[in-house]
Amino acid sequence: MLSKLFARFYDYWMRRSEKKYFSQKRKKITDLSGKIMELGCGTGVNFLYYSPKTHILALEPSSHMAKRARATIRSDQDIVVEELTLEQAQSHGIVEEWTYDAVVCTLVMCSVPEYEKTLEKMMKVLRKWGKLFIVEHIKSQSPIIAFLQNIFTPIQRVIADGCHLNRATDSFVHTLSLKCIEEEYFWTYKTYYYWLFQK
Ligand SMILES: C[S@@+](CC[C@H](N)C(=O)[O-])C[C@H]1O[C@@H](n2cnc3c(N)ncnc32)[C@H](O)[C@@H]1O
Repeated sequence: MLSKLFARFYDYWMRRSEKKYFSQKRKKITDLSGKIMELGCGTGVNFLYYSPKTHILALEPSSHMAKRARATIRSDQDIVVEELTLEQAQSHGIVEEWTYDAVVCTLVMCSVPEYEKTLEKMMKVLRKWGKLFIVEHIKSQSPIIAFLQNIFTPIQRVIADGCHLNRATDSFVHTLSLKCIEEEYFWTYKTYYYWLFQK
């Protein structure tokens, strides 16, 4: 029930931050080419930015989100939405290792059960020179904000379908041996992170 409501109100809830922060980052998706996989596509917000002839496999385990995402696909786009996690897609043989030119992941690492393992799996599906596009909210570098993030995470997990406010995704990403193309911390107290890297 809550996941249905989350999907129903997600775009409305995000509309201001989308306009002020995220849309500028998402626009850079247009530069990605080749075979692309998107993890946790949600309502399909990023679909707006994929070029017409690019093949995209979008994974989205929530059927409520997937239904909305499918409804946003334009007739000139080649996007397939599968209601699966990356692990499930791999075990069904839908996703193979070393096959993607780019992996897109925006605001998802906060929701997956084990984000470190998921990031490692995402690395493995990328080809050599493949690109990883990430936008995530992260544990703040301000001790006060980080403390508040710890306090509010249990509530956020319930109202936002498993979302954690306090994950240090950026720190883990920095341990992966990848070439950084662009990196930016944004929003108040650096609570958001955008990163584009190449294998
Ligand atoms: C906060 S939404 C973000 C949606 C979209 N990527 C965006 O940028 O607005 C997080 C999404 O991750 C999905 N998700 C949660 N666990 C996942 C998993 N293990 N694999 C793939 N997607 C997952 C959720 O169903 C949800 O749609």
